This record gives sequence, C-alpha cells and structure tokens, in this order.
Amino acid sequence: MIFRQLLDYTSNTYTYLLAERQGGEALLIDPVLENTDQYIQLIDELDLKLVMAVDTHIHADHITALGALKDKTDCASAMGSMTKAECVSIRFDEGEKLCVDNLHLDILYTPGHTDDSYSFVLPDRVFTGDTLLIRGTGRTDFQNGDPAAQYDSLFNKLLTLPDDTLVYPAHDYQGRTVSSIREERLYNPRLQVAGKQAYIDLMNGLELDNPKLMDIAVPANLTCGNRKAA
Ligand SMILES: [Fe+2]
Repeated sequence: MIFRQLLDYTSNTYTYLLAERQGGEALLIDPVLENTDQYIQLIDELDLKLVMAVDTHIHADHITALGALKDKTDCASAMGSMTKAECVSIRFDEGEKLCVDNLHLDILYTPGHTDDSYSFVLPDRVFTGDTLLIRGTGRTDFQNGDPAAQYDSLFNKLLTLPDDTLVYPAHDYQGRTVSSIREERLYNPRLQVAGKQAYIDLMNGLELDNPKLMDIAVPANLTCGNRKAA
C-alpha cells in the first residue's frame, strides 16, 4: 500500500493519500484547497491516478479541495449521505466501501462532531475525521453536533475496533501524527467518563471559541470549495 500523511500548516489538518500500488488508483481524504497543486504533483510523482477525493465531514476550519480536484483531475468527489453538500458526485452510507483498486475502506457513520461525520476503516488503521482525535474528541457545539451521538460513535463503534488499530485523525494541534485504539481508550481524557451522561456534561461544559474561518469555510464547503464565501 502507498500511504502519505500530509499536513496543512494553517489549519493543522491532516490529509491522507492512499493507493494500493504504484501506477494504480489513488484516494485523498480531507484535502485542503490551498494545497491542491501539491497533491496533484505528489500523485504525478508517485505515478498514481486520483480517482476520488472524500471529506469525512463538512469542515468548519478550512476550505475543502474536493471541487478543485474534481475540476483539475476529473476525480469523483464523495461524502456521506448525511452531507448537505450537494456538489458531491458520490454519496456513501455505512456498510458500503470506498475502493481504489484492491484497497477497500469500510465506512462507519460516526456522527456527533457533526451529523455528517464518517470514519473509514482499513484492517490496520482507521481515519476518524474529527470524531476521535489524539487525546481528544471533536467539539459538538455546532453543525448539528450532538454529544450523545458522539458517545455512541466513540464507544459503540470506534472503540470496538481491535486495540492495535492505528488512529489517523483529521487534525492535531500538537504535532502528533498517529495513535491507536488502545492508547485512546486508556489515555484519552475525554474517554475516561463514567457513562453517556457524563460525556454529554463534559462536552456541553466546554466553552470554545468558534473557528476563525467558520463563517467562510462552512458555506464554501457546502459547494465543495468552489465558492469562497456565502
Ligand atoms: Fe471538523
């Protein structure tokens, strides 16, 4: 498998490039608009063909490259069926797979951070978007966020994956690149709660400022980044 973890310095977003083999098909997860040319150059250098760009959810902190990549490479753009982005060419549901050549990512619906949050699972790793972060979890206070739904997504879905499953989130703000289900189950402070109500209280007690780009990024992302402001 070809795997690259790419960082957007401005928003601390991780973008993931996946392919089964050199010369084959490629998939990008959570690409950032400003880095579009960098992705295309890397994909060319690795002798890959981008067939699909996918967002784990509608991001509030950066503008997606889904539209730009579709324009420049003719790749498909994909999000889950719960998305309000009408620009995507593929809408997927839990139980389906994202496939590039013989690489098949299982799709989990993991709402809570937003109501359109999905995670993608390979046998040895999971891409958790903003549902499960390294030693944290995504905020649940806008975009139809719901701490009760996030509790279920975390405890009833993601934490049921094997302990040694690697965790690749959509963001990290302290330079951490990867974790595991075991590490997060044991050491993620948000997961050390007595039960669902305690988690809801914890999340509802966070007093967080809105992301700086939220008023620009959310409307832009509803059009796959093709329109920069509402
Ligand atoms: Fe997010």
